[in-house]
Amino acid sequence: MNAAGQNRTFETGELLARYVSGWLCDLAAASAGRFAVCLSGGSTPKQLYQHFAIPPLAARFPWSRIHWFWGDERFVPHDHPDSNYGMAFEAFLSRAPVPPENIHAIPTEGMTPEQSAAAYEATLRRFYGSGTLTPERTLFDVTLLGIGDDGHTASLFPGAATLDERVRRVVAADSPFPPPRRLTITPPVIAAARRTAMIVSDRDKAGIVQRALEGPRDPHALPSQLALGGVWILDRDAASRLTPVPA
Ligand code: 6PG
Repeated sequence: MNAAGQNRTFETGELLARYVSGWLCDLAAASAGRFAVCLSGGSTPKQLYQHFAIPPLAARFPWSRIHWFWGDERFVPHDHPDSNYGMAFEAFLSRAPVPPENIHAIPTEGMTPEQSAAAYEATLRRFYGSGTLTPERTLFDVTLLGIGDDGHTASLFPGAATLDERVRRVVAADSPFPPPRRLTITPPVIAAARRTAMIVSDRDKAGIVQRALEGPRDPHALPSQLALGGVWILDRDAASRLTPVPA
C-alpha cells in the first residue's frame, strides 16, 4: 500500500494489460444486470483495450450487459487519429460482439463542444435514472483513468475551473495539449464510480506518479489525485520513483 492508497505494479505493460483486462472481465461476469465501464483515453490504455477482444478472455466478457462510456473525449471526429472513441473502436469495439446500443460515445460532430457536453450529460442522466448523484448509488461500476505529464486526468487540467464543478457531470474544457477542445466528466462523476483504476505505464510518468501518490494532496494542482481513493495499477517503469514499501 502506498502512502495514499492501494497500488499494484507489474513488470511490463503487457502483464499489466493482461491483469487489468482479466480483472475487469471477472468483475463484469460476477455482476448482475448492467455493468457500466468508463474508459480513459490517450495512448496508454490501447494495449489494455486490445486484450478485451483477444480469445479466450473475449469469450468470457458478458458483452450484452456491459455498457461503455468515456471519461473524456477530444473534440474531433470519431474517425480522427486523436479520437478516444476511435482508439477504443479500433482496439476492441469493432472486434467484439458489443451491442451498438451499449456504446455511449461522446458526440463530437455537428455541434459545439458545449452542446456535446449537454448531450453527453443527458446520456449519463438517462443511464443513471435520477437527477442527483449519490454515493450510495454509483454511476459507473468501473472508471479507468490515466495521468498526463502535468498530472491531469480525464480532461481535468491543473488549476482549471472545471475542478470546482459540482453540478454538471460533463463540461467542455480547454486543453494545453492538442487537440485544444475537449469534453470531460467532472469530479462528482469520478467520485460516483464503484471502483476507480488509474492505469499508468512508461518511465516518463514515474515522476508525476511519485508526486501524485507520495506528494502533498492538492487535486487542484494534481487532478489525478481525484483517483487516490482507487487502485493505481502501474508497470515497473511508472512505479520506479516510488518509495519502496518494506517487505
Ligand atoms: C486523454 C485522456 C487523458 C490521458 C492522459 C494520459 O484524452 O488524453 O483521457 O487523461 O489519460 O493524458 O495520456 P497517455 O496515455 O497518452 O499518456
